[in-house]
Amino acid sequence: MQAAPGVPARLLESMSYSLLAGGKRLRPILVLLACEACGGDWKRALPAACAMEMIHTYSLIHDDLPAMDNDDYRRGRKTNHVVYGEALAILAGDGLLTLAFELVARETQPPEVAAACCADLARAAGYAGMVGGQVADLEAEGKTLSSVEELEAIHRRKTGALLTCSLTLGARVAQADSATLEGLATYGRCLGLAFQITDDLLDVRGTQAATGKAVKKDAARGKQTYPVMLGEEASVVRAELLVAQAIEALRPLGSKGQSLEALARFVLDRDH
Ligand code: IPE
Ligand code: IPE
Ligand code: MG
Ligand code: MG
Ligand code: MG
Repeated sequence: MQAAPGVPARLLESMSYSLLAGGKRLRPILVLLACEACGGDWKRALPAACAMEMIHTYSLIHDDLPAMDNDDYRRGRKTNHVVYGEALAILAGDGLLTLAFELVARETQPPEVAAACCADLARAAGYAGMVGGQVADLEAEGKTLSSVEELEAIHRRKTGALLTCSLTLGARVAQADSATLEGLATYGRCLGLAFQITDDLLDVRGTQAATGKAVKKDAARGKQTYPVMLGEEASVVRAELLVAQAIEALRPLGSKGQSLEALARFVLDRDH
């Protein structure tokens, strides 16, 4: 991250600490692959891809705060607030969130595509998307949800919204038609739900060495998860079904959907 005049060095350090820690980069890869699948030049989608990773990283920094999930490890290192303190962690998150919009607004061409991408990002990250989902996730702690649909409604917002947005950003940069964009959004919605199911499963049966974050935390916090509601086996079956639906949504793309298909299969088999 470039030093800008007057920006506190410790703020830049704290933003870079989490952003460059080395996550899977799933969401930016989805932006680039969606752009390519729509016949666009992936290089033109790089600002949107970087912005997506910035917003995702901000969501993780805040998700780990003591007031939220209170986690000490992320991406194989101590969490941002453990290293830099809570105040800087909150502000590093704010800095990444706003930098993401600056980047897309400035660097994405043409300007009407930049504006559409900013609107998608704001919708997906905000109260009707990730932020709303995180609130619902916290409110559900220690409670018993009445149906799987209720659980999915939380997952759809807290995880699915940003993941789906990765696909629509790529499609917008490629200036895809609305049917293609909608097909990719369907893929994103199914993959987003499957992704949170496998995240929940990794908390139960994964390792800290592979995931880079503490495991067996969800049960301790009374989190509402698929394994808690359905059991592990039924959760795996549900994730498989969702990935199959995601792949089905790629059908109109023909061979151009191959990389997205491979990525969907990775989500099922992942250990990190
Ligand atoms: C973790 O996301 C948070 C969820 C939405 C489940 P990732 O598993 O994609 O985290 P990184 O980016 O690889 O660290
Ligand atoms: C986090 O879900 C979702 C967002 C950050 C929006 P989790 O709380 O399950 O993610 P991890 O397990 O801490 O990565
Ligand atoms: Mg959480
Ligand atoms: Mg968490
Ligand atoms: Mg989790």
